[in-house]
Amino acid sequence: MKNVLIIGSTGQIGTELTLELRKRYDGNIVAGYIPGAEPKGDLLESGPAEEADITDAKQIAEVVSKYKIDTIYNLAALLSAVAEVKPQLAWKVGMDGLFNVLEVARQYQCAVFTPSSIGVFGNNTPKDKTPQDTIRNPRTMYGVTKVGGELLSDYYHIRFGVDTRSVRFPGLISYIAPPGGGTTDYAVDIYYEAVRGNHFTCPIAAGTFMDMMYMPDALHAAIQLMEADPARLVHRNAFNVTAMSFDPEIIYHNIKRYIPSFTMEYKVDPLRQAIADSWPNSLDDSCAREEWDWSPVYDLDTMTQDMIAKLQGRIGK
Ligand code: SER
Repeated sequence: MKNVLIIGSTGQIGTELTLELRKRYDGNIVAGYIPGAEPKGDLLESGPAEEADITDAKQIAEVVSKYKIDTIYNLAALLSAVAEVKPQLAWKVGMDGLFNVLEVARQYQCAVFTPSSIGVFGNNTPKDKTPQDTIRNPRTMYGVTKVGGELLSDYYHIRFGVDTRSVRFPGLISYIAPPGGGTTDYAVDIYYEAVRGNHFTCPIAAGTFMDMMYMPDALHAAIQLMEADPARLVHRNAFNVTAMSFDPEIIYHNIKRYIPSFTMEYKVDPLRQAIADSWPNSLDDSCAREEWDWSPVYDLDTMTQDMIAKLQGRIGK
């Protein structure tokens, strides 16, 4: 029996992670939401839902107590590009919000998963095969909150014994809920436009390599890490994980194999490009492989085939 609270259950990761956890565990898998982002459809019908605003520690504590929650997946965040537009709110959600979650977890003895990101790295970080333990010097508010989140989560583990664990997600590609304001979002948008039969205008320049992952592997990573034997974990917050690395040309040509009429041009967005340029080209995720047997299933080509098939079912003409 596992009782889980997902904070941010209606976002890109939460929508799918909540349903996956409900398939795997028979306890209360509570979809936490904020007003204006209420769960609908399957998410609402397949289990309990409660308002759980990350900026309201009391509200989180009440939900944790009511459902005897033992694990919190803290998915509330503003992604990198939108966080540059709203840095104060990004801090409030990413740092003050995490502090609330960790305090509740300390009081109620919950395990906590909080995604970190390739956004923790910056211009001085080695770009290729970026190591697990290396320079984290981001110059974005998103990156600052993610580095701070890693440090605070490790602090709560060492100081108070809270079971905190995390991965540094790369760009996540999915077809159910859209991402909101990230730098890697082009790699999601490109599939939607291709399947709609539209021309795609790419905001990221050719030759810009970033790590990416298909959502089924991301869900698997989060759940597998939270189920891992703690005795094997040398690291905790947070593990490098990746599944593939490509630039816009590579994904474009891969999609064209299946949709030959698809066309693309570039109109680079300076904000997103500067962020992308400060992130790694490719991560070394050997620590995750060694410490909890991480291994992704999807590569670019198998992801493309599945994305196109799934999107054709959902939005295809
Ligand atoms: N996908 C995120 C972003 O682009 C990175 O973690 O902001």
